[in-house]
Amino acid sequence: MNYSEINPISKRIPAKRQGAKRHYGIHPYFTRRPFNVVRDYIINYSASGDTIIDPFGGSGVTAIEAFLENRIGIQNDINPLANFIASGIIELSKVSSEDILYYLKIIEINCKNELTNISAIDESKIDIKIYQVKLPPNIKLPSNSDAERYFDLFTPSQLLSMAILKTEIDKIENPSLRHIFLLAWSSTLARINKTFISTQGRAESRGGSSIFSIYRYKLAKNIVKINPWDCFYNRFHNILRARKEMMQNIELKKAKDKWVGDFKVYRLDVEELRNLFFESADYIFTDPPYGGHISYLDLSILWNSWLGLMPSKKNYEEEIIVGGELKFTEEHYINRLKKSIKASFDILKYDRWLSIVFQHWNIEYFEAILSAAEESHAELKSAITQIGDTIWSMHKKKGKESVLAGEFILSFYKKNKIKGVKEAKQIDIKSIIIKILQNYKNDKLYAEYLLNQLVLEAWKIGIIKQLKINRDQLIELLNEAGWNYDDKNHYWCKASKSTNLFY
Ligand SMILES: C[S@@+](CC[C@H](N)C(=O)[O-])C[C@H]1O[C@@H](n2cnc3c(N)ncnc32)[C@H](O)[C@@H]1O
Repeated sequence: MNYSEINPISKRIPAKRQGAKRHYGIHPYFTRRPFNVVRDYIINYSASGDTIIDPFGGSGVTAIEAFLENRIGIQNDINPLANFIASGIIELSKVSSEDILYYLKIIEINCKNELTNISAIDESKIDIKIYQVKLPPNIKLPSNSDAERYFDLFTPSQLLSMAILKTEIDKIENPSLRHIFLLAWSSTLARINKTFISTQGRAESRGGSSIFSIYRYKLAKNIVKINPWDCFYNRFHNILRARKEMMQNIELKKAKDKWVGDFKVYRLDVEELRNLFFESADYIFTDPPYGGHISYLDLSILWNSWLGLMPSKKNYEEEIIVGGELKFTEEHYINRLKKSIKASFDILKYDRWLSIVFQHWNIEYFEAILSAAEESHAELKSAITQIGDTIWSMHKKKGKESVLAGEFILSFYKKNKIKGVKEAKQIDIKSIIIKILQNYKNDKLYAEYLLNQLVLEAWKIGIIKQLKINRDQLIELLNEAGWNYDDKNHYWCKASKSTNLFY
């Protein structure tokens, strides 16, 4: 394959979020990327047998899709929950559906009636001590949680039911099968706890945990009574469909090509991963952590603690976030972000591509990414705004025009040549924005698009370092230019020409 001649992806790829059973409905995780977009990027920028690395792998979309595309998928994440989900999905390709159904039957015989009976008992009458079950440690939760300690996240019947199920699953000897059953259990845990909030206007059992919507342990005002056995059992519907889908994918590839697909998992800080994989990746697709709002390790305690996978103190210190229990500053985040992107470029071979998903108001974050690329002799070849696909987060819904949604995919080509550093120039943000708006032919505009274009323009003319604009200034400029925010659709609409100052 001649990597230097690859045509970069130049258009938005419409996301099929629910299209793959192997990712959708198996286990929730934060900011999971649409599998079809990731897969198309992998196919475009690499070849069969290539090594594809995602240093911030999350739930494993990159490495799993790489594996299914007959490549070597390397999943890395500092969060044990992320790796547990990713490798659990891969385990599905190692077992038969008959074995899954056999063990499901055994667990049904041993647990179904007991769990159904417990669901019917008055919560105040449940005494967990009389049951022979192992409970997780009752650790302290992050300070911004509604609950103080781990057990406060559950009603007695929820805690007991989940403990009974886990005790039974732990007895499975085959590690792949045990992992798959724990995956279903862990996905059930996401619903069987007091952070589960029903979606308004839908059946009570439809909804999700506040951990994934507002990124903290907020307890529901009304606890939804979901039968844990039904919830656990229903997970297998998705698991079996995911397994079938993966096997079909693999069979199809085997029929066309020699199968070399593989998957490996690591729990290293990105800068440590560099030491292990220096200049060895053929393609990197990654989605780094977002700064504020999401403290992945704190928010994953619900799972990591009970699964016995608690991160080390070192993991907490290495996490690239703003805030969290260690109260990391924004400066610290930007510094670490830049170093980790630089490390990612070091992991990439020369004459290869790296794509990075990002979206944030703070231009310094973009600058960190773009200057790390420049220092690594990587050229920005394409920047695609994936707007229109986003599941609007609670932040977007609440913050309306001041919060960004949608993703921006930057693709770089790493060549083996030193490029001159661009000279700093004088900056006039307003005139750049006018130029972008004048060239924009639509009457609906996403603020994300405008910001992305602004960053790119600034990058092209070498003024990214001086580009400082905050959301209020951008909103003011848009208003001044005659654009109004549409509250319902979350985009900006062009007003008539008479009220438009820029035309
Ligand atoms: C935006 S998420 C990735 C989500 C992923 N794209 C998916 O589809 O699931 C960023 C990930 O970076 C991880 N992370 C944070 N700091 C890290 C570090 N220093 N080294 C490796 N991973 C880290 C977080 O645990 C989180 O899973």
